[in-house]
Amino acid sequence: MDAIECIKSRMSIRKFKPDPVPSDILKKIISTAQRSPSYKNSQPWEVAVVSGAKKDALTELLIGLLEKGAPPQPDIPEPAGWPQHIDARIKKTFAERSAKLGVNINDPDLVKKAKRANFRFYGAPHCIFVFQDRDLPSWSIFDAGLFCQTLMVAAHAEGIGTVPQAFVIDYSAEIRRFLSIGDNKRLVIALSTGYPEQIEPSKLFVTGREPLDSIIKWIE
Ligand SMILES: Cc1cc2nc3c(=O)[nH]c(=O)nc-3n(C[C@H](O)[C@H](O)[C@H](O)COP(=O)(O)O)c2cc1C
Repeated sequence: MDAIECIKSRMSIRKFKPDPVPSDILKKIISTAQRSPSYKNSQPWEVAVVSGAKKDALTELLIGLLEKGAPPQPDIPEPAGWPQHIDARIKKTFAERSAKLGVNINDPDLVKKAKRANFRFYGAPHCIFVFQDRDLPSWSIFDAGLFCQTLMVAAHAEGIGTVPQAFVIDYSAEIRRFLSIGDNKRLVIALSTGYPEQIEPSKLFVTGREPLDSIIKWIE
């Protein structure tokens, strides 16, 4: 698979086989991600790969917090709102995905159900938490994003699926404590990682993108 095909065919995976990914392959995709560019080669990224019984215990912790109504306090705050044209895109994807997967968008428990599935890491055998020093500038979050994209593309090249999950860092302080990550660090994102489960074609939802012309200005 060439780079263009690999980037274009990557998609967020939300159903995984339970089989663990060998650690040499995990190391290979993480070391590939380390080749990402960063501001002054600052490399503002660290990861915690959580698997096995520890991952299951983390699921229990997060679902427990959700069920008792603990307010989410992610290290990177949830967006308070979106400009109208961006909000329209988000709503379009949500409506298309719900229709394809037969999700009842009026279900009052919808967000909670989505969070439970996220906290179960969609059945993935690993969750890769990406974190960095808390007092780094905004550029470092940008750099961590580049790191994540490279990691996800490198994983895809190895036949491994990933999904970036902001929901999973809802309870950042508790996760940091659970993973023995210091309070001087901020959690940026979680990436559930594993071999994708086969999805029957009629249930496969591939997200769309805006027309190219709507995002380019050619200036000469
Ligand atoms: C910063 C960020 C946060 C995301 N958070 C979640 C999440 O909490 N749960 C989830 O299932 N997907 C999450 N996603 C995945 C997006 O929904 C997905 O990337 C987007 O719909 C485009 O689909 P694709 O990845 O299949 O191309 C997140 C993606 C990004 C980049």
